[in-house]
Amino acid sequence: MNGGTPPAIDSRFVHHPVMVAEVVEHLSTVPSGFFLDATVGGGGHARALLNARPDLSLIGLDRDPSAVEAASTVLADRGATICRASFAQLSEVLETQGVSSIVGSLFDFGVSSPQLDKPERGFSYRHDGPLDMRMDCGQQLSANEVVNNWPSADLVRILRRYGDERYSNRIAAAIVAARPVASTTALADIVREAIPAPARRRGGHPAKRTFQAIRIAVNDELDQIEPALEAAIDRTVPGGRGVVLSYHSGEDRIVKRVLRRRAGLSDESRFRALPPSPSQSQPAIELIPRGSRRPSPAEMADNPRASSARFRAFCKLGSDHGGGAG
Ligand SMILES: C[S@@+](CC[C@H](N)C(=O)[O-])C[C@H]1O[C@@H](n2cnc3c(N)ncnc32)[C@H](O)[C@@H]1O
Repeated sequence: MNGGTPPAIDSRFVHHPVMVAEVVEHLSTVPSGFFLDATVGGGGHARALLNARPDLSLIGLDRDPSAVEAASTVLADRGATICRASFAQLSEVLETQGVSSIVGSLFDFGVSSPQLDKPERGFSYRHDGPLDMRMDCGQQLSANEVVNNWPSADLVRILRRYGDERYSNRIAAAIVAARPVASTTALADIVREAIPAPARRRGGHPAKRTFQAIRIAVNDELDQIEPALEAAIDRTVPGGRGVVLSYHSGEDRIVKRVLRRRAGLSDESRFRALPPSPSQSQPAIELIPRGSRRPSPAEMADNPRASSARFRAFCKLGSDHGGGAG
């Protein structure tokens, strides 16, 4: 291990990386070469990995400029390349960097603690702030547009699909009736009032699922996962490895489907009209472990935001060679 003295951490951006020991343990045997942290956030996982493997060249992506700034500071002494980009653009970013293959990747989905804790970002139902929720502050769509302008049917659809919200009709009707909704706490109050009193006392804050659904819609979080994971797997060298951390069932369903398909364990083949082509029938990865892992009870007690995490990991199959440029 080569920890070194950590540089001064940006006190405005503190995020406790989830399952960091498990992530580093799985990734520490990758060949030397370029490693992609697709959601670098505050750089906590990246720094822990580089402590264990200082020979890796890390490329970190994040679409939140404040995360890019924080990760650039935290990883300044590690020669990492940090880019403001969505992981939907990972192929273009790697090409721009002259990197044709990677030795591993990490996807740590969801929001960072600073995004949740800063009222002005508008992610939190606990703090009063504007209806924003954009990870990339340069994008057009914000929570204000969704809450105040989207038709009721679209609100119902996202509340069901992204929030598993059983009171989606009541909540959507209450939001539409209360327009214009001015702030995050105003929205949280409307949601709480729309949910029957006995149900308000179960399953955490009554507005949690609604805020999650709106955040996923604003940031188009789910539709980017499958193509990005496919691209990362395709670019990983044999013997290379990947880890994916997801935080709710919608994310994990997609991750599980992609990884199982690429591992040749997919049920989809049973429903195919035609036999798979030779490239489809060859598993590209092995799942290690075969299913998912959860944080330890101690980590969940220490960091409640870790409690919904699911860890999935893989190793790329094929004969060994290193990841490189060009
Ligand atoms: C849970 S945090 C990652 C924390 C990081 N692993 C660490 O140790 O600090 C998730 C990060 O992913 C970023 N993010 C979410 N969706 C993204 C996307 N499509 N492309 C790039 N970054 C994304 C968020 O802005 C956030 O900073």
